[in-house]
Amino acid sequence: MSLWFESRLTLLSSLLLLISLVHPHSCKAVDLKPCGFQAIYNFGDSLSDTGNAMAEHPSPHAWHYPLGMTIGRATGRACDGLLIIDHIAEATGLPFCNPYLNKSLDHSKGANFAVGGTGLLSKEERAEWNVNFVWSNDSLDVQLRWFDQHLNDNFKDEKARRDHLKSSLFVIGGGGNDYGAMGGSPLYDKLPYIEQKKLIMPFVVGALVDAVKVRSVPNCAILLSHYCQEPAS
Ligand SMILES: *[C@@H]1O[C@H](CO)[C@@H](O)[C@H](O)[C@H]1NC(C)=O
Ligand SMILES: *[C@@H]1O[C@H](CO)[C@@H](O)[C@H](O)[C@H]1NC(C)=O
Repeated sequence: MSLWFESRLTLLSSLLLLISLVHPHSCKAVDLKPCGFQAIYNFGDSLSDTGNAMAEHPSPHAWHYPLGMTIGRATGRACDGLLIIDHIAEATGLPFCNPYLNKSLDHSKGANFAVGGTGLLSKEERAEWNVNFVWSNDSLDVQLRWFDQHLNDNFKDEKARRDHLKSSLFVIGGGGNDYGAMGGSPLYDKLPYIEQKKLIMPFVVGALVDAVKVRSVPNCAILLSHYCQEPAS
């Protein structure tokens, strides 16, 4: 089976599994252990941040109790307990996806690059829309660069990287903060909510699609287009 096809299948089945995992009427997580994932890489915002924003901006006020109250301690999650990404990790049998910016944690089973307050649109794209993002600039493009750095730091060659990524689960989400920033901008706040969203939605969704696009290139089993090198011509 070609790598392209294999990657496509992994992506498709992952999406289907995720959809079934978050389906509102199912209260039992699907068992993902048979998939044999070796690692999880997650990208996104506070819906899946397990401690990056806290590591980046330690504060005596934010990220503390009552956040984490149902599990007895604050963990950097913007939640009173666990997040969907934690339940996905549990379903795969892997440990929780550790925040990348907390360097004291183990990242051998993957890493979480999500940062609370970020959007999918880059700082440059937001500047084109004259939308100043106030919460965090660690948008998807920045998270993808961290991912690249992580791979460079941990895998000695292309083959090792490829073998690892072939059996990794990628989870990518976001968009809520892009729409929120649009609504908070004096340029657009007079427009009805739905009109604001219609304006940028194609770009927000485009950023997501661009990140998961698979290209048929040799020596590349990575789902993220940013990390696929063009074949040498
Ligand atoms: C890193 O994670 C550990 C264990 O959860 C935690 O005690 C520590 O405060 C975190 N460090 C930062 C900078 O967030
Ligand atoms: C994001 O970047 C802009 C432009 O460089 C800067 O003005 C702003 O303070 C940054 N925001 C945060 C939360 O770091």
